[in-house]
Amino acid sequence: MKSRGLYPTLKRIAPYTLRYRLLFSSIVVFVLLYSIIARTLPWIVGYTIDNGIVKSDFDIVWKLAIAYMVTQTLASALLYVQSILFQRLGNRALFDIREDLISHVQALPIKFFDENSSGKIITRVTNDVSSLGNFFNQVLFSLTNATIETISIIIALSFVSVRLTFVTLIAAPAIAFLSIKITHRIREVFHAQKQKLSAINAFVAENISGIAVLRLYNRIGANQKKFQRLSLEYKTESLKMSFNYALLWPLLAFFNASCILLTLLYGGYLTSQEVIAIGSLVTFILNVQDLQDPLSNLLEKYVQLQDSLASADRIFDLLDEKKEDLTGKLITNSRGEITFKNLSFRYARTGPLVLDGINLKIKPGENIGVVGKTGSGKSTLISLLQKFYSVTDGEILVDHQPLSRISARDWRAKIGIIQQDPFIFRGTVASNIALNTNSLSRGRIEQAALLSHCTDIFSKRKGGIDAIVEEKGANLSAGEKQLIAFARIFAFEPSILILDEATANIDSHTESLIQNAIKKVSQSRTCIIIAHRLSTLHFCDRIVVLDDHKIAEVGSHEELMNLKGQYYDLYCQHYLKPNVDYIALMQS
Ligand SMILES: Nc1ncnc2c1ncn2[C@@H]1O[C@H](COP(=O)(O)OP(=O)(O)O)[C@@H](O)[C@H]1O
Ligand SMILES: [Mg+2]
Repeated sequence: MKSRGLYPTLKRIAPYTLRYRLLFSSIVVFVLLYSIIARTLPWIVGYTIDNGIVKSDFDIVWKLAIAYMVTQTLASALLYVQSILFQRLGNRALFDIREDLISHVQALPIKFFDENSSGKIITRVTNDVSSLGNFFNQVLFSLTNATIETISIIIALSFVSVRLTFVTLIAAPAIAFLSIKITHRIREVFHAQKQKLSAINAFVAENISGIAVLRLYNRIGANQKKFQRLSLEYKTESLKMSFNYALLWPLLAFFNASCILLTLLYGGYLTSQEVIAIGSLVTFILNVQDLQDPLSNLLEKYVQLQDSLASADRIFDLLDEKKEDLTGKLITNSRGEITFKNLSFRYARTGPLVLDGINLKIKPGENIGVVGKTGSGKSTLISLLQKFYSVTDGEILVDHQPLSRISARDWRAKIGIIQQDPFIFRGTVASNIALNTNSLSRGRIEQAALLSHCTDIFSKRKGGIDAIVEEKGANLSAGEKQLIAFARIFAFEPSILILDEATANIDSHTESLIQNAIKKVSQSRTCIIIAHRLSTLHFCDRIVVLDDHKIAEVGSHEELMNLKGQYYDLYCQHYLKPNVDYIALMQS
């Protein structure tokens, strides 16, 4: 990823601050007020020398000393208020950006999450947002102040003498040019550095998730080496950064020295020629000295700005990712008829066909079983039905309407799905059943827990269905997670039910108990059940056999058994000893 350049990025950030008009304009007023008042300070000193000290008028000196005190206090107070206003604006803008970013990320299509690791996404939402936060909390304040202070000092200098100002600042353009060159290089380095950090975070996140496997296969050492390599790459970028950063300071020191030197030489000459008074020269020198602070501040914050902007680029890149299209027609009175028409699908444009010419009409209320080898495309079919990907060819129709034109939000609310490894959030069993919605009554949750046998299973735990559940259900067995997923179905009563190897981790006894409950809920609903355990599919109206990404056979259990095709073979493999003929057995 390349950086966008200063102005395009700033243009993207600007609306976040400009929307707070009152706050923004008060800041502008305070900044201007401060810079004007701060510039009167050296002037007071110069005036005191020329009109008080030189003329031995101590009455003036005394009065001006008080004026100096008052002005200095006022300037500090203004700076204080200004800083608070900047913080307030910054925090609001940052809050808005974070909100936008998180809601945007949640609305991205599933494909995005297939292609980007969670570690990388998290780096953007956390590290990059905090780097951009520096922009609002420190950089904006300091840069604005330093710029205005620099400009006001230059104006104050030219009030004393335009000629002297010009000579003093003669090296400025060359120094500015070099500094900008260096800081731009720094921005590229920041970009690279952030990418490396992102890679480290992705690596760590993945390895923590897979820690048990790594331990088992004793890969910790090898992984440590990989981590060291990533860390080394990060360090190299950081060193590049320090090298470029370090170049800036000698440059500034040289400029400062040249300013003082030229002021003394040329200013001394002008005073000797009585072109300017000695007090004015003191004012001038004080102003030149005052220039050092904002300039070094400017340089330092300009570098920080590069850091913030590199992060801003990454944030806006994420914000530019196209959201999933949730709009479309609403479905009213869905009958639950689903038709796959010449459906073909591949995940990547150049990838293999994962589904090839699927034609299947599922009648309203029909229960369809799906079997097929691992990788034959069963789960993909379900993903397409959830509108997680757009189909490559053909279409899916829901009640004769193309699914592509139906609102994904509306449609998904009608589907209930249980997967082999359901996702469990940190919370309680009950909060996982309700998925943190407040729309479900406690009674409903309890009933769902009862039907799914969660109540039985969790009764031994402290708290029952209010037992604490860790992240990703770490303290639950795979089967317990599936039971919670079943409870979700009973709680939300979706009109279309999809089970994708949903009972794979549940023991036969509990399965048969749930089976009865499933039969009850599936009676009135369109239902798609993917299962390896063929006994689960007995009650289905029809069974589809997927093979080599195509539909190989369709029919009821009896029809398929009589067909003696793939289903028959599978059935024999599962339930009969090899070489024993099923029909013969049935007849005996
Ligand atoms: N997100 C994905 N990106 C690319 N390929 C995928 C993705 N998910 C699954 N596949 C591939 O698609 C094929 C079908 O997968 P899947 O539908 O999960 O099979 P199964 O029948 O076991 O459920 C597999 O070859 C798998 O490698
Ligand atoms: Mg699968």
